[in-house]
Amino acid sequence: MRFDIVSLFPGFVAQLAAHGVVGRAGERGLLSINGWNPRDFAEGNYRRVDDRPCGGGPGMVMMVDPLRAAIHAARAADPAPARVVYLSPQGTRLTQAKVRELAALPRLVLLCGRYEGVDERLLQAEVDEELSIGDYVLSGGELAAAVLVDAVARLQDGALNDAESALQDSFEGDGLLDCPHYTRPVEHELGSVPEVLLSGNHAGIARWRRQQALGRTWLRRPDLLDEAGLSKADRTLLDAFRAQYAAAPRDAGEGG
Ligand code: ADE
Repeated sequence: MRFDIVSLFPGFVAQLAAHGVVGRAGERGLLSINGWNPRDFAEGNYRRVDDRPCGGGPGMVMMVDPLRAAIHAARAADPAPARVVYLSPQGTRLTQAKVRELAALPRLVLLCGRYEGVDERLLQAEVDEELSIGDYVLSGGELAAAVLVDAVARLQDGALNDAESALQDSFEGDGLLDCPHYTRPVEHELGSVPEVLLSGNHAGIARWRRQQALGRTWLRRPDLLDEAGLSKADRTLLDAFRAQYAAAPRDAGEGG
């Protein structure tokens, strides 16, 4: 998969993406990340990329032409069709479902804004989709682009090692939060590992993990439960969790 980052700091995104799973995927030839700086496409001695907002007000707005030329250059660098995504807090929210959709594409051009925004005419003409990584404001799209690249890159075939893939399979797609994890030592001054995890009873362990995932989702992200399509067995597990939580929040696995 090919990523093209249009940004005043394209090296910043490439640097963020040079480590860990994304870096390794690059080394394995599963993806490439290419930077395009609109300043290189700007005219005049000052290579200006922004100007004051029409109608007045604070800050600066990124101009149409340098961004347009950078996007066109990125498109022309490879014959595969590219989806152009603008990262902004005004976009629709990035979800794992959207990440899966993007991961199936051959190319993505990611447009990172700075300053107060980007001239709307450029967005109308060149951008296929506007995405936000959450309801908070960053000072530019670069960190959001790095988040998107990471989430998409790890879904490329061969990007994850077996252990990472297995972990991924166990909770991706069911729409629930992950269960808690423990390792040795079993006894610690901060508490003991839940007994069931030491029992060797695989069915019991799986049931406990499922119940914890359900309980956590109910406590922390009840909005996700509506979408999760719970089975009858799930509902029974969750009811038991809720009863236990009402009686003793700590014993149900959550501090309180
Ligand atoms: N740029 C600034 N804030 C952002 C956000 N929350 N998501 C995506 N891009 C952004």
